[in-house]
Amino acid sequence: MAAAQSRRGTGLFWTRLSRCRTPGPAQTRTGAGPHRCLSSVSAPPPPGTWSSELSRLSHRDLYRLSVTNPDQFWGSAAADRLRWVEPFKRVRDCDLSSGKISWFLGGKLNVSVNCLDVHVEKHPDRAALIWERDEPGTEVKVTYRELLETTCRLANTLKSHGIQKGDRVAVYMPVSPLAVAAMLACARIGAVHTVVFAGFSSEALAGRIQDAQCKVVLTCNEAVRGGRVVPLKSTVDAAVRSCPTVQHVFVSQRTENPTEMGPLDVPLEEAMSSQSPVCPAEPLDSEDLLFLLYTSGSTGKPKGVVHTQAGYLLYTSLTHQYVFDHRDGDVFGCVADVGWITGHSYVVYGPLSNGATTVLFESTPVYPNPGRYWETVERLRISQFYGAPTALRLLLKYDDSWVKKFDRSSLRTLGSVGEPINHEAWHWFHSVVGEGRCPLVDTWWQTETGGICIAPRPAEEDAPIVPAMAMRPFFGIQPVLMGEKGEPLSGGSVTGALCISQPWPGMARSIYGDHQRFIDAYFKPYPGCYFTGDGAYRSEDGYYQITGRMDDVINVSGHRLGTAEIEDALDEHPAVPETAVVGFPHDIKGEVPFAFVVLKEESGLDRAAVLKQLRELVTTKIAKYAVPEHFLVVKRLPKTRSGKIMRRILRSVAMEKSGDLGDTSTLDDSSVVKEIIEAHEQYRKQRAEEEKKKQQ
Ligand code: PRX
Repeated sequence: MAAAQSRRGTGLFWTRLSRCRTPGPAQTRTGAGPHRCLSSVSAPPPPGTWSSELSRLSHRDLYRLSVTNPDQFWGSAAADRLRWVEPFKRVRDCDLSSGKISWFLGGKLNVSVNCLDVHVEKHPDRAALIWERDEPGTEVKVTYRELLETTCRLANTLKSHGIQKGDRVAVYMPVSPLAVAAMLACARIGAVHTVVFAGFSSEALAGRIQDAQCKVVLTCNEAVRGGRVVPLKSTVDAAVRSCPTVQHVFVSQRTENPTEMGPLDVPLEEAMSSQSPVCPAEPLDSEDLLFLLYTSGSTGKPKGVVHTQAGYLLYTSLTHQYVFDHRDGDVFGCVADVGWITGHSYVVYGPLSNGATTVLFESTPVYPNPGRYWETVERLRISQFYGAPTALRLLLKYDDSWVKKFDRSSLRTLGSVGEPINHEAWHWFHSVVGEGRCPLVDTWWQTETGGICIAPRPAEEDAPIVPAMAMRPFFGIQPVLMGEKGEPLSGGSVTGALCISQPWPGMARSIYGDHQRFIDAYFKPYPGCYFTGDGAYRSEDGYYQITGRMDDVINVSGHRLGTAEIEDALDEHPAVPETAVVGFPHDIKGEVPFAFVVLKEESGLDRAAVLKQLRELVTTKIAKYAVPEHFLVVKRLPKTRSGKIMRRILRSVAMEKSGDLGDTSTLDDSSVVKEIIEAHEQYRKQRAEEEKKKQQ
């Protein structure tokens, strides 16, 4: 290995950017069954149909058209709203029963052109991004022209280091203009980005890089969040040691602190500065890969959800406009991290495709104080604020003056995403933050759906919004609720497994490297339909309310986690033969992992030390937020005769509902239940005593 060199950051790119002071359903009562075979091969409608006719229709009529004539609806929207290099020849060719999904066949376009060049032609000096950095009042504005130039320099840098169409590029960066430029640079040259949330551990990052066989990684020396500096480069160093496909690591300087540079490392700002600010855009097939995004499923291994070009872009663009009532000149404030799908669809692709000014929020809701979000709204004149219930639940515990002392008159729409929003949080957000005058949209969707699927549309005529309910399917979305025997449920006041019976352009196309897993997870459970993994309730009025996951996936602070992933990490401990993790309610985080742990019967085993090591294991294998809040040591786990752990029983015990354990007749040995209840009782007493001591 060549000797590592030390580098002091120039901050070149960051300082070059100018500082700114911004001036101030139609409801469905879908009881219809799934469409067993949805193959459709149709020609596109004539150009101009969307602009001249459809965009003038009422929402109700648009929804009706989108489900009765999806080819006309999506075909016109795609033809008129996107810029094509070559027009598409067919609107769609889909068959949900076999997991085959293709949209806008034969067409060629470039996503970065649609997000940048088309706007640079019209308003080059409009702010594309406002980077709301960690320290309040230090925001940086990036115009569409600047973002295009930076994207091109970055694209040329990647090309000059051998990156070509189809190559996978990992991005492990905090929310920043360079992270956005990295995504768009990949899109420009046809490389496939996979952004990994910069809170994941080196092992989690390595797993994703290995699965995607990434050739390069883009990162920063450090991240800055909540006044603290978080090392990133050292995490990448540890990850790439086990990633032989990685040829280069591009390192940007977010802070002035020096970085150890190794033989793979390339200083990003320096490399970009010698590149041309012009880069021809690669014409890409509608169905070429745009990005992979890893998310948790019910097995231990995260899956690389595949999204492609045209359909994804169209869907994020349309949902961004209609769900948030986006208008020209709006400042769109989605405070999600680019490492999650919300950041992809509603920080980057949706807003930029619509020529909006999008906010990149680098900080936390409570830094330097609980007024941060609303002070930012006042300073940046944010029109739409889109955030997660977990942050709202945290903020509503503080005095309302933290909200009220800031001017929120710029706000027009409020949005919630990622997890169920409880009534208290909904009402606080609506009446305190929005002064009761801003529609609040609870948006339901998933990494796999690409964009919002169920949400109120505030611009819709005479449409009421029911608190804490996602309510209406978006254009083209046909929800179906399935009963226990797999039968479609009709009418209102019913609860079932939430499926979607028609394909839509934004839906995922595959799981990277494992198309069979894609079919098995989403299309096998209810043949002919996409199965979401969630349960839902349909009211008498035909509105939908999400009731939660039906599989072993939990939602911690809006972050999706497979309980199997946590179990895999815990099971690596030599003193732990078996574990089972379930979700447990938490008043701020929504849910937290609750781990039932079986320890080896060894004399002299230091329990406290083992539990500490287990916490560390989860932190190093996954991330801090995945560490169980509760560990309950038990002698055995409740299992069926075929050896399957009955998590339902564990959930009931954890929630102190031992009187309501349901059917336990399939248990191999029912005496295990009594054992676990007793262990839990003891654990509860111990926690209560600890709590008491803390308060004294
Ligand atoms: O359980 C649902 C929950 O989050 C899951 C999707 O997680 P992820 O792919 O990480 O995407 C999150 C951001 C879109 C869903 O299966 N979820 C998402 N939005 C809501 C929700 N649960 C209830 N209400 C929502 N609005």
